[in-house]
Amino acid sequence: SSVVTATQRNPLFSTINSDDIRYFKEILGEKSVIQDEEMLDAANSDWMRKYKGSSKLKLQPRSTEEVSQILKYCNARCLAVVPQGGNTGLVGGSVPVFDEVIINVGSMNNIISFDKVSGTLVCEAGCILENLISFLDNQGFIMPLDLGAKGSCQIGGNVSTNAGGLRLVRYGSLHGNVLGLEAVLANGTVLDMLGTLRKDNTGYDVKHLFIGSEGSLGIVTKVSILTPPKLSSVNVAFLACEDYISCQKLLLEAKTRLGEILSAFEFLDTHAMDLVVRHLDAVRNPLPPSHNFYVLIETTGSDETNDKEKLEAFLLRSMESGLISDGVLAQDINQASSFWRIREGIAEALMKAGAVYKYDLSLPVEKMYNLVEEMQIRLGSAAKAVGYGHLGDSNLHLNISTPQYDDTILAEIEPFVYEWTSKHQGSISAEHGLGLMKANKIHYSRSPEAVQLMVAIKKLLDPNGILNPYKVLPPSLISQS
Ligand code: FAD
Ligand code: MLT
Ligand code: ZN
Repeated sequence: SSVVTATQRNPLFSTINSDDIRYFKEILGEKSVIQDEEMLDAANSDWMRKYKGSSKLKLQPRSTEEVSQILKYCNARCLAVVPQGGNTGLVGGSVPVFDEVIINVGSMNNIISFDKVSGTLVCEAGCILENLISFLDNQGFIMPLDLGAKGSCQIGGNVSTNAGGLRLVRYGSLHGNVLGLEAVLANGTVLDMLGTLRKDNTGYDVKHLFIGSEGSLGIVTKVSILTPPKLSSVNVAFLACEDYISCQKLLLEAKTRLGEILSAFEFLDTHAMDLVVRHLDAVRNPLPPSHNFYVLIETTGSDETNDKEKLEAFLLRSMESGLISDGVLAQDINQASSFWRIREGIAEALMKAGAVYKYDLSLPVEKMYNLVEEMQIRLGSAAKAVGYGHLGDSNLHLNISTPQYDDTILAEIEPFVYEWTSKHQGSISAEHGLGLMKANKIHYSRSPEAVQLMVAIKKLLDPNGILNPYKVLPPSLISQS
């Protein structure tokens, strides 16, 4: 695999010395100061094994106070840090670029409170998403977000990336569902914005700066989040469409005919299906092969009989009108999970297939698949362009799969993919963030004035630039003063 490296280490940053280690051990205790090579190896490389840093130190604070002490010290010493959660990020944002100190709040994993009437969950940022999902399930509630990485990602990481995922079409983004948060600034200041109010228009809503800022403005330590009740009837259908225009028409039909019970609308093309069937154990296509597109539709409602009738009528109508060529409705929870496994397993299957060039784009839904087709024509037989994603949110995951990394292939893909997206008024980062991968590409989706304002905010909150350097914003704009 090829390793992506950034420009140049910022010479203003110090390097860790034995006094630093002694200080951290003093405030955190021996066990929370990790220097073990194997553990550092894991924390230095990302989920895709594409980015690799060389940090010599990982810190695991157990309280906001400890996070504050760490940052205050690092800021004074000009030691760069990288906040890391479950390390499932897909843009190289969660691993050090050089020798940044890794700070992981995974030991801060307590649930602080849950209020059933309002559905407000308050927890520490290191809680693993799946644990929150299980906790809420016992209370008769669900998380407003769900994603394939739920077993390892942390809620602090989700908030910091403004993760989208599989339920956004129904519950909206974390900008709507996060009611409050606590964050620690670069100089150690604790910002308590951990409100639980649904409505609160008192001045600028500063918490939004931290949602999606990828660890570049502060470390999120606590989160308060609005959770919907768990409804009794959930149905999952796995459908086949022969062309992309049918997928689009099906989306409109689903929105109008299923209306308030629609809770997911996901799609994958035949190449994505081939990959999961080939590379993942016990995954099979529930429909006789082979179709050009597959759509996964989930409905969630409170009336079993009505919901099922509605969904069945929708399926029958879509079949009769030729929008879908085949389909199957899950008969039980196991079959429903097996359909979800196909969609959620694509990222893993791509990794097993070899090298992957990953793009996460927002595009007008009617144009979205044209890009996959144009990309395939550009690449010829050298690589496979695979399309899947959150069709209900106009979010395409375009992945180019090849046996090995090859710079000539990368040169065919970029900047073409960014230019195409920009030309169609899309976004080069729908949900994964910019990280290291796209810090220098921000101008494809943001005006120079907006980028300048972001730089000014970054400098105000983190004047020494110690928080997740080289990521999100072009390093050249940060180092100019
Ligand atoms: P990390 O990967 O550790 O970090 C991500 C970023 O957040 C980094 O910039 C890091 O510095 C920062 N960060 C982490 N914790 C904190 C904190 N406490 N305070 C401040 N900054 C912090 N993303 C989606 O949006 N939708 C999906 O459907 C989706 N599916 C995925 C499926 C798979 C199989 C995988 C591997 C990834 C997927 N992702 C998806 C990408 C990823 O963004 C999410 O997995 C998740 O939000 C990252 O959380 P994490 O705890 O792993 O954060
Ligand atoms: C997904 O929707 O499957 C995730 O965002 C991961 C990916 O894009 O591969
Ligand atoms: Zn996604």
